[in-house]
Amino acid sequence: MNVLFLHGPNLNLLGRREPEVYGTTTLPELEARITTWGGQLGVTTTFRQSNHEGDLVDAIQAAGDLDGIVINPGALTHTSRSIGDALRSVGVPAVEVHISNVKAREEWRSVSFISDAAVRTIYGRGFTGYRDALRHLVNRDAVPFSTLRYGPHQDNVADVRFPTGGSRCLVVLIHGGFWLQEWERDSMETLAVDLTLRGHVTMNVEYRRLGTGGGWPGSAHDVLTVLEHAALDTQFSTVPAAVMGHSAGGHLALWAAGRVRTRPVDLTIGLAPVTDLAVLADLGAAGGPQARQLLQAGAQHRIVEATGSTLLVHGLNDDLVPTAHSTRLEDTANVALVPGLGHFELLDPHREHWTTVIDALDRLD
Ligand code: DQA
Repeated sequence: MNVLFLHGPNLNLLGRREPEVYGTTTLPELEARITTWGGQLGVTTTFRQSNHEGDLVDAIQAAGDLDGIVINPGALTHTSRSIGDALRSVGVPAVEVHISNVKAREEWRSVSFISDAAVRTIYGRGFTGYRDALRHLVNRDAVPFSTLRYGPHQDNVADVRFPTGGSRCLVVLIHGGFWLQEWERDSMETLAVDLTLRGHVTMNVEYRRLGTGGGWPGSAHDVLTVLEHAALDTQFSTVPAAVMGHSAGGHLALWAAGRVRTRPVDLTIGLAPVTDLAVLADLGAAGGPQARQLLQAGAQHRIVEATGSTLLVHGLNDDLVPTAHSTRLEDTANVALVPGLGHFELLDPHREHWTTVIDALDRLD
């Protein structure tokens, strides 16, 4: 794959420009990092930066033969209709990236004339957003998907990937990110693609998050709704159903799995799941403020027990969600603690925990 990275005005000043917002990494350093990520994903990357709108339009028009564009248009995001039109004209899948959280800064930054022309918008994840953009382009190239709607809110959508031939199981994936709006379902895509290639139909779910009407109870109710929707839809209801949540998505999956009225979930899988909001809230670490917000809104303090068949997989090196979140449920769930893995490695199907997950799914069909 060949992907062009385009940077707009003032991004040549990265490293010196408002370091409290954009960090101290320079643009050449960022491009070197992106080149390494590209190499790991089998993608050839090229780069262009310009302070001029017309130059960016010209670069997009010249990119018609490429497999993807990743664009951070800087402040032109909020004003330029011609960049959006250029992206629509070439028809190359483009991911819009912002280093900062444009939805949590001045109001004018939350307006984008680019998002409608992009296949995804990634913001507020720092430089990691560029890696995630690449990963998304690779995954959408690997297995086609369609996006279904399960509710009225813009976040009530799920990407469905069907295997070639018959489906073995349905796997519903619930992403993590401490219920925050800047973390979206793209983090689960590599797992979804792997599962689809193994013959499972996958449903990679988006849900309302803090900042988009979610939190408690919105996020949890969306996950429950999508499980009930899947249980009623004849495209999925004829095969065994599993729900798999990572991190805060594990909390939502465990909460919802025991409450589906339409049809029981056959297997619940938590990957480094949050199961105790009270402990997370007290830690003063990542996720603490969000856990406190959920508790104040009336969320249950902790998942009391796992219902039905449940597998919890946790890396012993997880420094974000302690393994105690899984081991405290040992009486009602199978718990697999995996040496050498941290929090995010569980999103990589090439790591050693994945055979445990695949074996559990194999036992279902
Ligand atoms: C930016 C956000 C824009 O609002 C700003 O004008 C930029 C950078 C970002 O990466 O966060 O130049 O796109």
